Amino acid sequence: MARVFSGVKPTGELHLGNLLGAVRHWVAQQDQDDTIFCVVDLHAMTIPYEAPEMADLTWKTAAMLIAAGLDPNRCTLFVQSHVPQHTELTWTLNCVATFGELNRMTQFKEKSGGQESVSVGLFDYPVLMAADILAYDTDKVPVGDDQRQHLELTRDVAIRFNHRFGDTFVVPEATVPPVGARIMDLQDPTSKMSKSSASPGTVALLDDEKVITKRIRSAVTDSETEVRHAPEKPGVSNLLEILAATTGRGIKDLEGEFASGGYGPLKDTAAEAVVEFLRPLRERYAELDKDREQVTKQLALGAQKAEAMATKVMERVRKATGLLPRG
Ligand code: TRP
Repeated sequence: MARVFSGVKPTGELHLGNLLGAVRHWVAQQDQDDTIFCVVDLHAMTIPYEAPEMADLTWKTAAMLIAAGLDPNRCTLFVQSHVPQHTELTWTLNCVATFGELNRMTQFKEKSGGQESVSVGLFDYPVLMAADILAYDTDKVPVGDDQRQHLELTRDVAIRFNHRFGDTFVVPEATVPPVGARIMDLQDPTSKMSKSSASPGTVALLDDEKVITKRIRSAVTDSETEVRHAPEKPGVSNLLEILAATTGRGIKDLEGEFASGGYGPLKDTAAEAVVEFLRPLRERYAELDKDREQVTKQLALGAQKAEAMATKVMERVRKATGLLPRG
């Protein structure tokens, strides 16, 4: 069985893009692979954030993952800051990664651009991510395009470490998410759905049904009327992708059904499909929310499982790097 690791930041409510692009594939992967999923709160600290909201957002993100179908009995689900080996390994990898290669990370350039003061943590973000992955002997990392460069860095650092200190890390591979993995913003269909839940281009998983319907009905399309999946029609293509992903139907099939009649019926049907698709998730979330302790306990068990794995890897790392054993 391959070991699979992925992480999600607790920066806000999960949205339809996270669910259709990533989380539903994680759910399917639970039965095929040895899967580890991590709510990466330490990564969320790299940009300015509201401290009083962090714990709640972390809980919510974990509960939403469970509501979406991650089963703590079939995968390892935990919170990054609960397993100290992530930061410990980050230090070791800091001494292997170079300033030059971190300085070339496009996400760092984007996020730091224009900011008055940039934290060292933001600069070091990719090394923490490498530690997440390497601490578990991970074989495969399902990531979107925006994280590919970080995964390349992880591989480079692992290879360099193994070369310098002897074979210690498994060198992981990025796996391409299946088709339909890129859900776009409803108001700006040329960029990925990623904005906060307050944005009209986003459908957050816990949004009110009326809000969801309204947002999908107001999706930006184009001035034609032809329902067709094509690069020059990003808005319409996105609606078709959303409808296909939430109903399991094929794009060709849907193009045929909505060929005539303009975009109205397509939008209405997509809105209904999304509301129906999210209903069971919202019901499960409401159940979890009534008894928050049970999720907290599951996360504690997840952290225990994760720590047992990461401890073994750290022992190898300490030995390889020549640190004095504590005795
Ligand atoms: N950087 C990833 C993102 O923004 C989140 C992440 C952190 C991650 N650690 C990871 C993803 C390890 C995969 C593996 O989406």
